[in-house]
Amino acid sequence: MFRHLKSDVQAVFDNDPAARSKFEVIFTYSGLHAIWAHRIAHACYNRKWFTLARIISQVSRFFTGIEIHPGAKIGERLFIDHGMGVVIGETCVIGDDVVIYQGVTLGGTGKEKGKRHPTIGNNVVIGSGSKVLGSFRVGNNSNIGSNAVVLREVPDNCTVVGNPGRIVKRNGEKVRDRLDHTQLPDPIIEMLREMQNEVDRLKLAVEQQQKRLNDYAAKENGQLDHNQED
Ligand SMILES: CC(C)(COP(=O)(O)OP(=O)(O)OC[C@H]1O[C@@H](n2cnc3c(N)ncnc32)[C@H](O)[C@@H]1OP(=O)(O)O)[C@@H](O)C(=O)NCCC(=O)NCCS
Repeated sequence: MFRHLKSDVQAVFDNDPAARSKFEVIFTYSGLHAIWAHRIAHACYNRKWFTLARIISQVSRFFTGIEIHPGAKIGERLFIDHGMGVVIGETCVIGDDVVIYQGVTLGGTGKEKGKRHPTIGNNVVIGSGSKVLGSFRVGNNSNIGSNAVVLREVPDNCTVVGNPGRIVKRNGEKVRDRLDHTQLPDPIIEMLREMQNEVDRLKLAVEQQQKRLNDYAAKENGQLDHNQED
């Protein structure tokens, strides 16, 4: 237990450049308080003292703004930065050296039973406001971008961003979609462009015709005047 406390404090120093002293970290980091409360709640949960476990979890939530279900399994050196609004579901499993920012939900989709929350690998960063929903795995060393909504398995060493979450980097290399969705042809724009070209062509033809008629008329008038003078 003491080893856990020490490594939890060390995780704050490893991940937060703003952390100054052990005293400050121990007394002011709500993420740390939530994790410690969770360790007690989880021990109660494992002994099947479910109501006591829930009470500890809810008291912790009241003071820290972080809701970790007592059934969730969390690894070593989890760091919850800022923390407010973090929700971690009952069947969630979190590996070692994970960083979670404020507003993260590790939840279910509401459609599953049994294991319905994600399994997070080691050394994963889950950006602020992101939601990871469902009973799939997020691989080791992966990053979930701020505000991403992840609904599918994430392999190791990937970066996922957006809603719905898509892999934009794998093993340090950028991943490009085979089809560039921002460059998809728009049939209506294409049709309007064709019509505009047709109108331009017709306008030019009419102008040329008009010019020819004017020239012809001018020529005719000129000849008429000439004949009259004769
Ligand atoms: C995703 C993240 C971890 C960076 O991971 P990374 O592997 O270094 O990824 P990169 O910075 O190389 O970005 C890869 C691509 O994703 C885009 N991207 C990064 N974060 C994004 C986000 N949150 N939403 C949408 N797109 C994002 C980048 O613009 C880049 O796009 P491009 O290939 O078109 O240039 C980081 O951007 C992030 O969101 N961290 C969370 C930080 C946080 O929550 N802080 C709160 C502090 S209070």
